[in-house]
Amino acid sequence: MRSSIALALSTLAATALGTSYENRTLDEIHQAALKEGDVVTLWHGGDEKTQQDRLKKAFEERFPGITLNVTVDLSKYHDGRLDDQLANKNVYVDSIILQTLHDYPRWKDEGALLNYKPRNFANVASEFKDPEGAYYGYAILGWSTSWNTVKYNGSLADFSDALLPELKDKLIFTYPNDDDAVLYAFDLVVKKLSVKWFDALIAQNPTWVRGSATPGDQLALSNTSYVASFASGGSSGPNKNTSRPTDAPFVTWPQTAAILKDAPHPEGAKLLHNYILSDEWQFARTGWTVRTDAPADFPNIFEEKNTNVTNFLPWMLDRPNVERIRFWYETRLGTAQGISPLDDDL
Ligand SMILES: *[C@@H]1O[C@H](CO)[C@@H](O)[C@H](O)[C@H]1NC(C)=O
Ligand SMILES: *[C@@H]1O[C@H](CO)[C@@H](O)[C@H](O)[C@H]1NC(C)=O
Ligand SMILES: *[C@@H]1O[C@H](CO)[C@@H](O)[C@H](O)[C@H]1NC(C)=O
Ligand SMILES: *[C@@H]1O[C@H](CO)[C@@H](O)[C@H](O)[C@H]1NC(C)=O
Ligand SMILES: *[C@@H]1O[C@H](CO)[C@@H](O)[C@H](O)[C@H]1NC(C)=O
Ligand SMILES: *[C@@H]1O[C@H](CO)[C@@H](O)[C@H](O)[C@H]1NC(C)=O
Repeated sequence: MRSSIALALSTLAATALGTSYENRTLDEIHQAALKEGDVVTLWHGGDEKTQQDRLKKAFEERFPGITLNVTVDLSKYHDGRLDDQLANKNVYVDSIILQTLHDYPRWKDEGALLNYKPRNFANVASEFKDPEGAYYGYAILGWSTSWNTVKYNGSLADFSDALLPELKDKLIFTYPNDDDAVLYAFDLVVKKLSVKWFDALIAQNPTWVRGSATPGDQLALSNTSYVASFASGGSSGPNKNTSRPTDAPFVTWPQTAAILKDAPHPEGAKLLHNYILSDEWQFARTGWTVRTDAPADFPNIFEEKNTNVTNFLPWMLDRPNVERIRFWYETRLGTAQGISPLDDDL
């Protein structure tokens, strides 16, 4: 009796929440998406227009007839524009994948997101997903330390290495007050190595730029005038080395994806989300993954030293704290200067 009541209640709960589970194969979803149209619109966070070209190419080759209409822009701008779409009841984006993790619980509460569990949802670590499937991490991003190997032969692995005298005038960083993940990265280091360390860093006369990829892209050039950075992504290549610092924590987070409840191309969006969680995308390159069932040679983000991949969400959710820290940096560095990183040369 009791168990049948429990069963009835859980069925009721599932119906009320309206979560749907995907059982179809990628090819079956592809066919459904083709019936619906020939495009799926994705807004992805980032600071170079070409940053999602690999995903676009792979998706379009795998699923002929569907264009991945992806726009990369800073997550902090994408989210406000999506809020406008929601306010005007004019949602034309199908899928949104951002760094601004604090937006997702709010959008879920507002009823803006589709409760939907792609295949492999069960294999996504519980830390990265909403239990009803409104949103989930699909990739682990992180920034450590990096240096140009043409300009420097040794290792600049630790944050304290940035204070070496030979790096005076040779450091390049993204303004922490222009990007919350960079802000978090600096916050982690300053909390550990002290304000004194940060004052000494400023005395090194670093160059501050816009765009979290800009320093890393600079350091990948053979003829750059810079030598080192941290808290930056950007290109890899033969002229650049990176390392995981040991003297303070570095930033990692699950880049988080959701389908809009009013998406004009729901089948296309489902196709995209099933694809980015599939073995063929997740396991194409060895590295951190949101999935708990990765091949044995994949590194496990939860075992990584000096980073806590689950802490970025609570940090981002505390907006008063984020604002306080942002302005702490802004009083020292001034407002971020320069054109949009999407339009600069690097
Ligand atoms: C998928 O399968 C599960 C159980 O295997 C079932 O409960 C669910 O209704 C199915 N979903 C769809 C969309 O068919
Ligand atoms: C592609 O995305 C842009 C930006 O979101 C949008 O304005 C445009 O209408 C989309 N194109 C198509 C064909 O859906
Ligand atoms: C690095 O080492 C190589 C080979 O030993 C040497 O040719 C080069 O000048 C060194 N570069 C620097 C910046 O010290
Ligand atoms: C990168 O630096 C590490 C030391 O942190 C060193 O062991 C490794 O050989 C370097 N790799 C390249 C390609 O220079
Ligand atoms: C570096 O080389 C590229 C072309 O390879 C050139 O466009 C650029 O101006 C050079 N930069 C510097 C700082 O010399
Ligand atoms: C990582 O961060 C989460 C969220 O703030 C916290 O619950 C957890 O205790 C942290 N883990 C470690 C090992 O510090």
